[in-house]
Amino acid sequence: MRTPTVLILGGTAEARVLADELDSLGVAVISSLAGRVADPKLPVGAVRIGGFGGADGLADYLRRHRISAVVDATHPFAATISASAARACAAAGAPLLRLARPGWAAHPLAGTWHWVDDHDAAAAAAQGGRVLLTTGRSTLGVFACLRAPFVLVRLVEPASALPDGWSAVTSRGPYTVAGEVALLREHRIEVLITKDSGGSMTEPKLVAADQLGVRVVVVRRPPSVTGVPSVAAVPDAVGWVRRRITA
Ligand SMILES: NC(=O)c1ccc[n+]([C@@H]2O[C@H](COP(=O)([O-])OP(=O)(O)OC[C@H]3O[C@@H](n4cnc5c(N)ncnc54)[C@H](OP(=O)(O)O)[C@@H]3O)[C@@H](O)[C@H]2O)c1
Repeated sequence: MRTPTVLILGGTAEARVLADELDSLGVAVISSLAGRVADPKLPVGAVRIGGFGGADGLADYLRRHRISAVVDATHPFAATISASAARACAAAGAPLLRLARPGWAAHPLAGTWHWVDDHDAAAAAAQGGRVLLTTGRSTLGVFACLRAPFVLVRLVEPASALPDGWSAVTSRGPYTVAGEVALLREHRIEVLITKDSGGSMTEPKLVAADQLGVRVVVVRRPPSVTGVPSVAAVPDAVGWVRRRITA
């Protein structure tokens, strides 16, 4: 009998922890990364890097590699690959689970933030003050229209080009409240623009902003794919995989 293989669509800390836990249980795992970052943190086990070529390409990959189950543990804002995964798994007959960390909507400070539906609305809501922008490289184009006296953008890797007058800082967390307070103070930040990534690794900026009276603009998550079962924690995903591969 062939060994069941689980495909983890990754690029997140949760995906790496899941790969580690399944590997330690003796489950064969392939982790998939998009290839956006030149020097990614790699999970244990087999890793493949790069897009599949849409839902059809992913369905083909699932069949060729005889994947027994797929866990979509990509970032909550990676909506395209999640939609592809749903279509591909339906076409290839592979069970699919979404693993997505809870968002910050229930955070004790959430009621003090300005929530918006997308990055365009965030740009409109943030006009005027000195800005710290933490929504990621792929969103920079949307914010080029930002009318602000100062913009500091925080990225995992240096950007090849930034709008005139912007500054960048590179780091990848996790962060501390003290470190975030220092950053906000050093650059006299008045507005923090972020998205509802959730989790604890990047949450300290929200606490720091509250301490310093910095206005916070938060982009809501895109809707999750309907019909795909979802869990919020790695142990639940491990349980789901174990049930699938022993069924
Ligand atoms: N969006 C964020 O804020 C964010 C933050 C942290 C980490 N990440 C990670 O960075 C990756 C890219 O994010 P994104 O927002 O650009 O995604 P996206 O918009 O949903 O995906 C764009 C395309 O990138 C490819 N892709 C995405 N994730 C992939 C994966 N894990 N393995 C193989 N191909 C993948 C797919 O190409 P094909 O159509 O060719 O298959 C997909 O259509 C994701 O894996 C995500 O977990 C994203």
